Amino acid sequence: MEILVAKTAGYCFGVSRAVNKVFELLNDGVDNIYTLGPVIHNEQVIKKLKQSGVKVAEKIHDIEENGHVIIRAHGVGPEVYKELEEKGIRFSDATCPYVKRIHKLIMEEKDRCDVLVIVGDKNHPEVIGINGWCDNSAYIIDDPSQVDDMPSHFENVCVFAQTTITSEKWEKIIQKLKNKFKNVKRFDTICSATAKRQEEAAEIASNVDMMVVIGSTNSSNTRKLYEICKACCPLTYQVETSYELPEVDVKKIKKIGITAGASTPDWIIKEVIEKMSEYKAYDEQQGGKEMQSFEELLDKSFENSCDSLSTGDIVKGRIQSYKGSEILVDLGCKYDGVIPLSEFTDDPDFNIQTDLNIGEEIEVFVVRVNDAEGKVTLSKKRVDSIKGWDLLEEAFNSKQPVKIKISEIVNGGAVGRYRGIRVFVPASQISDKYVSDLNEFLNKVINVRIIDINKQKKKVVGSHKVILKEEKEKVENEFWSNIEVGKKYRGVVKSLSDFGAFIDLGGVDGLLHVSELAWGRVKHPSELIKVGDVIEVSVIDFDKDKKKISLTYKKPEDNPWNITEAKYKTGDVVKAKVVRMTPFGAFVELDTGVDGLVHISQISNVRIPRPEAVLSIGQEVEAKIIEMNAEAKKISLSIKEVSPIDPQPKSEEKTQ
Ligand code: F3S
Repeated sequence: MEILVAKTAGYCFGVSRAVNKVFELLNDGVDNIYTLGPVIHNEQVIKKLKQSGVKVAEKIHDIEENGHVIIRAHGVGPEVYKELEEKGIRFSDATCPYVKRIHKLIMEEKDRCDVLVIVGDKNHPEVIGINGWCDNSAYIIDDPSQVDDMPSHFENVCVFAQTTITSEKWEKIIQKLKNKFKNVKRFDTICSATAKRQEEAAEIASNVDMMVVIGSTNSSNTRKLYEICKACCPLTYQVETSYELPEVDVKKIKKIGITAGASTPDWIIKEVIEKMSEYKAYDEQQGGKEMQSFEELLDKSFENSCDSLSTGDIVKGRIQSYKGSEILVDLGCKYDGVIPLSEFTDDPDFNIQTDLNIGEEIEVFVVRVNDAEGKVTLSKKRVDSIKGWDLLEEAFNSKQPVKIKISEIVNGGAVGRYRGIRVFVPASQISDKYVSDLNEFLNKVINVRIIDINKQKKKVVGSHKVILKEEKEKVENEFWSNIEVGKKYRGVVKSLSDFGAFIDLGGVDGLLHVSELAWGRVKHPSELIKVGDVIEVSVIDFDKDKKKISLTYKKPEDNPWNITEAKYKTGDVVKAKVVRMTPFGAFVELDTGVDGLVHISQISNVRIPRPEAVLSIGQEVEAKIIEMNAEAKKISLSIKEVSPIDPQPKSEEKTQ
């Protein structure tokens, strides 16, 4: 047999606060305590309080002069405070902060609207109290049809909700008001505690064979809870104490769900669970599966009750939604956790509307429990910071890089944050190159190595430079272990010079000599490439020790010597252009990229001192191929065998 106990079962925040107040006063030895109306709709609790001497007064008139009155969670109108003060009666105000907020809102709005509307039960003390704060001038509506009875001449209507009404009723009445009046200003004052309890009850009731709702018959929220559960699970019982638990047919009932109204104290819920242990014994006698122990069930039931929460705790919660600049966190218990945005993140670019991960589980630090506003105030930043220091110390020891976003440029460096902790990056450590303006790093996310850390002094220093250097080294090592002659790379032209170009092959530079740019003659690399071009080059040589790489841009398939070999043969007479001269002969170009040598002895029939004596660059000559070796890229030619060029007489040279 399995028993599921609702996490939201029992006292809501406001009721718990009011009941605790009574017990606090009793513990402090305060005499003659009164509650103005029953502090809670639960006979058992009232009986207990009565036994301790706490009296219930229906009117102030019934309170003795030396009495001490507790105003319950429902709250009261201003006339009650006035009367207490006039009569000099001491009082403690346990009005639920959510109800107090409605008092404040309705007071502020009463002169701004033509008419005020309260959606709720006109006889409920909470509604009576709220109405008091607008001089009892509000229309109180409990059903959409009642909107029809309102005069139609109002223009500006302000609507407030009793904290415990259903959102379904609320939305229907709002719609009806909008249809009738020009301007309807709504104040969504429904308390989520009730809705949460009802949602969870419905979910559990839909999945069990039997449901038990614990609470007094005179508690309206318990009755509502019973109706919801009954609709989901036909075998639903409402009990006020464990004595009212029905007999259970353990053969048929394998799962029992338990929830409780907002006025049910934990001790009654515990008693009911204890009683369930009798089912367990019987079930086991019948050979049923072993049920969880009573203690286990209790632990499970109350582990998330929030009662054990205290300042300084670190707990898990789930991001539920946001309201204004507050992030609401489901702590898995009766109360909502709230993180002010300033306690969520330091990121100035964080957008609560778009960047919040609804449903994400986070760890939070408890700043305040049940504070004056009725919230469990939390901080994510503090957990981040506590954990952040541990992680930073770990990163310092293990040398693991951490990511930071640079948020500030300060004197001497840049500042980034890691889980809210300030990490300083000195200017000398921000790059492996000279940086003239650190602002280029602003808002950038960078990896840093923690090079100094002192938690006491709250000092952390990071270096981006060492990371860059290591990354570079890694890339280089990988490059050098994979390089081979003939391997092709796509590289970026980094710089040009007369002798060639440097090509970045991905962290390592190689030299592309001007002679390797093309098969033909190239005077300067800029004729073919420019800085920034991405080109495909091949390795023709490299030296790992000297870190030198020679590259070529030439493609073997474009090699003009292959064409030359097919086109010419020894003995052919060709036309060629003189392109270069040396002391031992002249080079002539047969085709683009194919030069042959006319040795000085093959130019003229007579001895000439140097080729320039009879030839000039660009001159076209006829020559015979006397030797050809395409593989060695060598062609020897003779001019004199075709048409020898003899030098002109000296006198003629002068007259020309
Ligand atoms: Fe309870 Fe206060 Fe909400 S009394 S139901 S927490 S408004």
